[in-house]
Amino acid sequence: MPPLRNDRLLRALRREPVDRTPVWIMRQAGRYLPEYRATRARAGSFLALMRSPELATEVTLQPLARFDLDAAILFSDILTVPDALGLGLHFVEGEGPRFERPLRSAADIDRLRAPDVERALPYVFDTVRMLRRELAGRVPLIGFAGSPWTLACYMVEGGGSADFRRVKGLSYTDPAALHRLLALLTDTLVDYLSAQAAAGAQALMVFDTWGGVLSTPGYREFSLAYQARLAQRLAGDPATRGLPLILFTKNAGRWLAEQAEVGCAALGVDWTQELADVRVATGGRVALQGNLDPIALFGSPERIRAEVARILESYGPGPGHVFNLGHGVLQQTDPEHVRVLVDAVHELSMPYHA
Ligand code: CP3
Repeated sequence: MPPLRNDRLLRALRREPVDRTPVWIMRQAGRYLPEYRATRARAGSFLALMRSPELATEVTLQPLARFDLDAAILFSDILTVPDALGLGLHFVEGEGPRFERPLRSAADIDRLRAPDVERALPYVFDTVRMLRRELAGRVPLIGFAGSPWTLACYMVEGGGSADFRRVKGLSYTDPAALHRLLALLTDTLVDYLSAQAAAGAQALMVFDTWGGVLSTPGYREFSLAYQARLAQRLAGDPATRGLPLILFTKNAGRWLAEQAEVGCAALGVDWTQELADVRVATGGRVALQGNLDPIALFGSPERIRAEVARILESYGPGPGHVFNLGHGVLQQTDPEHVRVLVDAVHELSMPYHA
């Protein structure tokens, strides 16, 4: 493998000095890019796109051809894992993900068997290998998965949800069954992330999109405990040991200090928090990734630069900041505004690394 020519991301995740703050964008390969929409049309559907290593590689690289980004993120989805568990993933146009066979009882949960991820999801690992070849050391490649709790949400609800009535309901009516599901998901995710690392992923991110819908005790018991177990298991796995792990719970402001204790390199921070406060609360024990409001990209270029300046100032001098949005880029975003953001981060961050 050729040496990594741009290691800003990996250095920042390890809180080592960098020349400029690294930047990448959640959902950087996606519908806001016309070239993504063209490739997706050629593939026929999102699932066909994701399951083709050639096309998934192509769309992963599209934002890197346009913008001076410091990382690539594997083009895939968190819902590959429930699909491998036999739930039957499909997407309803305009409505998002749906499972044909959601988990509707404890018996449904107890019928699940941890899959052989290499056999069930070969296209994911083929894409990682192809990407490492194509990237040829230009920037590091981030692999990812959903958190056990967030995957359980989709699996029990059968898709997205406004109130998470079924999965939160299970936490009150049959918490033992929910714990069995979360434990099985954690085992599967260790294998899944380990196989991504073995195929060439250089950093790992876990998306806990729905941790923030829980109560504080609920978050500790059903989300954070399994993020911790996952982090511990990855730290002991020969393929993932030493790879920086980024944990991101959306809407987790009040729990970030606890989350910093589970044994990860970095925390993703959504736009509701001030990085200055989070840096104090987490005591410099982890790097921080974030946290521009994705809607800020609908402002003028001047306003975007001002927001970038504000966030860099909030984090302050020194290493350990990875610039990103506080959640995924929206499909209505003007790609030129993403360019303004990326260039502003590099330009305006230099004084913080002098
Ligand atoms: O960040 C990246 O560029 C990497 C690719 C990526 C996708 N999904 C591609 C995708 C990543 C990291 C994800 C993670 C993901 N998927 C999450 C966690 C992150 C988050 O946003 O909180 C979640 C909750 C999902 C589940 C999922 N997949 C949803 C809710 C949707 C949107 C459905 C819709 O129609 O809006 C998807 C589909 C999806 N995953 C798209 C992309 C680019 C859009 C697919 C399309 O229609 O082309």
